[in-house]
Amino acid sequence: NKISLIGVPMDLGQSRRGVDMGPSALRYAGAIEKIESLEYDIHDLGDIAINRPATTVDKESNLKNLEQVIEANETLARMVDEEIQKDRFPLIVGGDHSIAIGSLAGISKHYKNLGVIWYDAHGDLNTSETSPSGNIHGMPLAVSLGIGDERLTNLFGYAPKVKPENIVIIGARSLDPGERELIREKGIKVYTMHEIDRMGMSAVMEEAIHYLKENTDGVHLSLDLDGLDPTEAPGVGTPVLGGMTYRESHLAMEMLSDSELITSFEVVEVNPILDEKNKTATLAVGLMGSLFGEKLK
Ligand code: ARG
Ligand code: MN
Ligand code: MN
Ligand code: MN
Repeated sequence: NKISLIGVPMDLGQSRRGVDMGPSALRYAGAIEKIESLEYDIHDLGDIAINRPATTVDKESNLKNLEQVIEANETLARMVDEEIQKDRFPLIVGGDHSIAIGSLAGISKHYKNLGVIWYDAHGDLNTSETSPSGNIHGMPLAVSLGIGDERLTNLFGYAPKVKPENIVIIGARSLDPGERELIREKGIKVYTMHEIDRMGMSAVMEEAIHYLKENTDGVHLSLDLDGLDPTEAPGVGTPVLGGMTYRESHLAMEMLSDSELITSFEVVEVNPILDEKNKTATLAVGLMGSLFGEKLK
């Protein structure tokens, strides 16, 4: 029951400033106190230092802020790796979703078959060729599959970090053409909003948990707050209508908690500048509570 919280005030993976304040917003909303109240031994390791010069665009690849994104993710990977070596559960709070590159790089070397749950409106499966934006936060899942710019895919000295059959995407409703192709080609399991509406969240989670339990030896949960509907989570940079509700999301976290499947957790894309009185961070802290077993206490 040992958790290490690592803050990653990263906003260089996308174009709207403010998501770098995510870790502060989550701490302000009581993340540490919530987890302590659930009787965990949580250490707050503070925030990683992010080098923040003016926006640069890599000439060859069109990737924005590539150097800084790599640098921060290398630091993150190293820290996550160390915490797992100390037998502590890594809880990474962002920051934009580009930080999943570093999280997965630090985590995956400890598992033969790491599973990933990608709770998100987006697939984040773009490469510099398919990306409509050049924003690296739209690429971390592809990068972790070993697809994309080598400087990203080889971060922390190895690739790939995950296998396509060990990934489950939940809540997708905004996929770019190149992402759809990759999903088809690799056979990645995706529950779009269509499936969630038809099957209900309970059946979706049951299936997803069963699917991952078979073949994985650990599961990383990557929770992008834009997976939720923007009426409930307005403090995000890339909102998409028609998302998962508060209740569906709590149910999902509770079922994951009961499954005891999750071995690392990441909360990303909380942007307090775009929020309404820290509503999105507060929601995120509630979801953390459910993931860490609040309903049982
Ligand atoms: N697909 C779009 C892009 O590549 C949006 C990605 C949004 N990603 C996120 N983590 N919020 O730019
Ligand atoms: Mn302690
Ligand atoms: Mn997203
Ligand atoms: Mn995302």
